[in-house]
Amino acid sequence: MFFFYKKKYSIDSNGVVTRKSHSNIALIKYWGKHKNKIQIPLNSSISYSLGEVYTVTRLIYQKKKKRNLSVRVFFSGKEKTSFLPKILEFFNRISYYCSYLRDYNFIIETYNTFPHSSGIASSASSMSALALCIMEIEKKLVSSLKEDFFFKKASFLARLGSGSACRSIYPGLVVWGYHQSIKGSNNFYATPYPYKVHSIFTKIEDTILIIDDEPKKILSSKGHQLMHHHPYARERFKCANKNMNKLISILKIGDFQEFGELIEHEALTLHAMIMTSSPYFLWMKPNTLKVIHTVWDFRKQSKKNIYFTLDAGANVHLLYPVQEKTSILKWIYSDLFSYCKKIIESFCL
Ligand code: PMV
Repeated sequence: MFFFYKKKYSIDSNGVVTRKSHSNIALIKYWGKHKNKIQIPLNSSISYSLGEVYTVTRLIYQKKKKRNLSVRVFFSGKEKTSFLPKILEFFNRISYYCSYLRDYNFIIETYNTFPHSSGIASSASSMSALALCIMEIEKKLVSSLKEDFFFKKASFLARLGSGSACRSIYPGLVVWGYHQSIKGSNNFYATPYPYKVHSIFTKIEDTILIIDDEPKKILSSKGHQLMHHHPYARERFKCANKNMNKLISILKIGDFQEFGELIEHEALTLHAMIMTSSPYFLWMKPNTLKVIHTVWDFRKQSKKNIYFTLDAGANVHLLYPVQEKTSILKWIYSDLFSYCKKIIESFCL
């Protein structure tokens, strides 16, 4: 793979790099990965990167003599040894492609603008922010490193930390996983959606209703594994593939109703997969269902373009065109606020 970095290099002995990366919400969901390969998805997915919900990471590096992996992590100002196993596993995996990682002591200082492990993809924004920081270091080693390579490799590295993180490298609509109808799509790194998109899909609000801010009980890594023996897995992958084709034409034509129905179907399919896996789980909370039904009733009666999607958790993302922001936001605060712990007024980048 052309992402190897194994040359001899020279670099300042100490330094610091900082990057910010946004969370993302998938429209076509990634759920299930190949058994004996590292983070290779079983269907292609597409997401919007999100404004207002992001991770900022500062990576401090200090040259050392002994070649090994050495990392300390500080989250919101406090040292977090509980994050270390995942970070060390990530560094270990990617050190194959970034051999220089073994030559430094690293200190990671990071914070999110939203609760971590709450169903808002904190691993996506945090792993992509870290991957971008690592690429900033690589850029210091290779002065000729091109921008295109910088982002491709950042996405490739982020994927090895958390699958959906590879999509957070870019703003806008981002695709990950090979799909026959999407030029440049591949399983190794994400790519910006390459086709024309109707203007209605270039300015979309995403109001996130935090219904549960406790850390997730079921990690997505465990959930992906459950797809290996899932009775409906094969049909799910076929369906995701078809839904991607449908979405391509919807994005071109600009039909918001079809878009909304497709993303709601995808969200409920993701939850149906976890509900019918063995062992089975339920991410939704009573208030998730109350929100969904209230949105459906409101849509029927007001004819407004407001649709939901869900991530691996209880929280609800409400997507609607920016033109309808004032009236819809007013309605959200009056009719949905009582079901939520918090409302995050985000938007699709
Ligand atoms: O990136 P992971 O391994 O945490 O998987 C997350 C998958 C979903 O967020 C549920 C869907 C998606 O495509 O983002």
